[in-house]
Amino acid sequence: MARRPRVVRNLSALRGAVRGYRATGHSIALVPTMGALHEGHLALVRLARQRARRVIVSIFVNPAQFAPHEDLTTYPRTLAADLAALGREKIDLVWAPAAGTMYPDGFATRIEPQGAATAGLEDAFRPHFFAGVATVVGKLLIQCLPDLAVFGEKDFQQLKVVTRLAKDLDIPVKIVGVPTVREKDGLALSSRNAYLSPVERAVAPALYGALKIAAHRIASGELIARVMADGRADLARAGFSVDYFEARNAETLAPVAAAGEGKLRLLAAAKLGNTRLIDNIKA
Ligand code: PAJ
Repeated sequence: MARRPRVVRNLSALRGAVRGYRATGHSIALVPTMGALHEGHLALVRLARQRARRVIVSIFVNPAQFAPHEDLTTYPRTLAADLAALGREKIDLVWAPAAGTMYPDGFATRIEPQGAATAGLEDAFRPHFFAGVATVVGKLLIQCLPDLAVFGEKDFQQLKVVTRLAKDLDIPVKIVGVPTVREKDGLALSSRNAYLSPVERAVAPALYGALKIAAHRIASGELIARVMADGRADLARAGFSVDYFEARNAETLAPVAAAGEGKLRLLAAAKLGNTRLIDNIKA
């Protein structure tokens, strides 16, 4: 029988546990999440398990990364199921602070990332987002003192921002990325997929389909600008409202005009009804 993992909700208990792991020379991996765990999150947890003796999973729906009009209040919260799943993965500790523990009265400091965080992708549509992510991830890294922290390539721009954050602030942690886990039909797993109506769910895999077609056309030598414009138009015809569908340098996320300017990443975000989906692939 899987045992429910230990759930810690206050900082002094977390620090005590971390001190204990460190005192026995055990390496620590952190997997930051907002809960509503699915197989994508669990892939991160499994990698963490392989790479470190102790695994901490944080579950915190971070108010700082949601704009007032976004889905903070309706974001899925499934703590009992999350704990059951994490029990099966045999992790050591769940760090699940209340919002008032993470951001107590008087909280007044923010990490405002630049570079990849201002690439004109997610940041163009969610201007508050990366400061919220960077601030909470910075805090989580300092709270948990992990040797490594695991993030999904699903949120590719976020992975870049967090990697840079650790470097820039001299936080001694290795940031590790994990490839996107998908449904059989190609749709990237996401907690927000739960919002899709059956009709929208049937259309949703077309986002990944469009990325794959674009990657294939670019590989066969077609002009990037043309290929990406076609992708945008195809998605709009399929019923998506496209925020962006872009070819970028895979390292810097800078715009790319022609193939051969370094490794490419194709990144997309589009809405189906009220649900915003994001995805990306190598090209
Ligand atoms: P959340 O959306 O819960 O995602 C937690 C981690 O799981 C992120 O690193 C994300 O990239 C990864 N992930 C989500 N879906 C995935 C999939 N289909 N395949 C692989 N990995 C996947 O991202 C956040 O939370 C927050 O911004 C957070 C980093 C926790 C800061 O609040």
